[in-house]
Amino acid sequence: MTDLDDLISVLDFERRAEQLLPPGVHGYYAGGAGDEVTLAENRAAFRRWQFRPRMLVDVSGCTTRTTVLGEEVALPVLVAPFAVPGLGHPDGVRGIARAAAGAGTLHCVSSLADASPAQVAAAAPGGRFWFQVYWYRRDTGITRAAFQLAAEAGFKAIVLTVDAPRVSRRERDLRNRWAPPADMIVPSLFEATGGKLGRQADFFALLSDAMTWRDLDDIVSWSPLPVIVKGVLTAEDARLAVEHGVGAIVVSNHGGRQLDEVAASIDALPEVVEAVDGQVEVLLDGGVRRGSDVVKALALGARAVLIGRPALWGLACGGEAGVERVLQTLQTEVEICLALLGVTAPSEVGQQHLQRAQG
Ligand code: FNR
Ligand code: LAC
Repeated sequence: MTDLDDLISVLDFERRAEQLLPPGVHGYYAGGAGDEVTLAENRAAFRRWQFRPRMLVDVSGCTTRTTVLGEEVALPVLVAPFAVPGLGHPDGVRGIARAAAGAGTLHCVSSLADASPAQVAAAAPGGRFWFQVYWYRRDTGITRAAFQLAAEAGFKAIVLTVDAPRVSRRERDLRNRWAPPADMIVPSLFEATGGKLGRQADFFALLSDAMTWRDLDDIVSWSPLPVIVKGVLTAEDARLAVEHGVGAIVVSNHGGRQLDEVAASIDALPEVVEAVDGQVEVLLDGGVRRGSDVVKALALGARAVLIGRPALWGLACGGEAGVERVLQTLQTEVEICLALLGVTAPSEVGQQHLQRAQG
């Protein structure tokens, strides 16, 4: 049994989760693509920024509350989408969803999660959710059906992951001879096909690597919900995303799991923020492990961040309660960081609060 009170930081959760998880599942959660250069950079790059705090500011009213696409959240930290979270703990995505709801934030539910949008909504009343999708082959009607079901379940947005036309090579999985079980049911696909298709193997066979910006136009035109793109790393693509009508952009390299040797997401953030020029909100994920990382992302123009692996470590250590504890820990760290920086709300953090690390 893990006593959550022993786990003081996200890094404590990470170490404990490694002891608890079966090696194959741990390798899948922890690993990245190729030499894992980007995976490491996502962490290292935060260290290359330092704070410039201001003193003698009344911070007695300091809050971590903010809004993301008009939704109030208790902290500028959302929970990213994950395939097969149920392999790490039986609470699965339902536990993550309840924890996010309990912490007052949003969870972006993966289409590969172990529950469909309707099942997640039923398991976490009062929660607010986005639905993450990949692009199923054209003309199957499945993408459309999946969006419709998410809208009917009360989800607030669609998050289209654009950095995965192919799933990358992850050597930890190959060495562990590990892959998500091919026969495992993918509930969102099962429901979107009226029960015709629903196995992991069906899911991956349906994915298309032929999607273009023109397809994004189509999606935006018929989607019943705002469409957010996840996986943008350049000013060029950020401008295209805005031109094609997205509701927000997530700067992300998929946690170092797709193209290795791209920039850390915190290093890609400034050019995206500059290109977008306030037209849509910009979010970031990748390597966020501390409240200080969250605040650095805010300072460089992100509206909020998403945490990936930290939520999975929380789930492995304590199910729903573990995820909630991870979110609470980050909230405490963000609040202390804001107050010591001399601001009273996420919206007050700006470029003036950061400088490149000295020597
Ligand atoms: C992911 N990620 C992911 N992204 C996505 O769009 N759809 C998905 O199904 C998954 N699945 C998934 C599984 C696992 C085990 C991990 C670790 C990650 C990527 C995820 O949403 C997010 O972009 C990264 O995890 C963020 O980086 P950090 O916070 O893990 O460093
Ligand atoms: C992953 C895919 C499924 O990162 O998004 O494992």
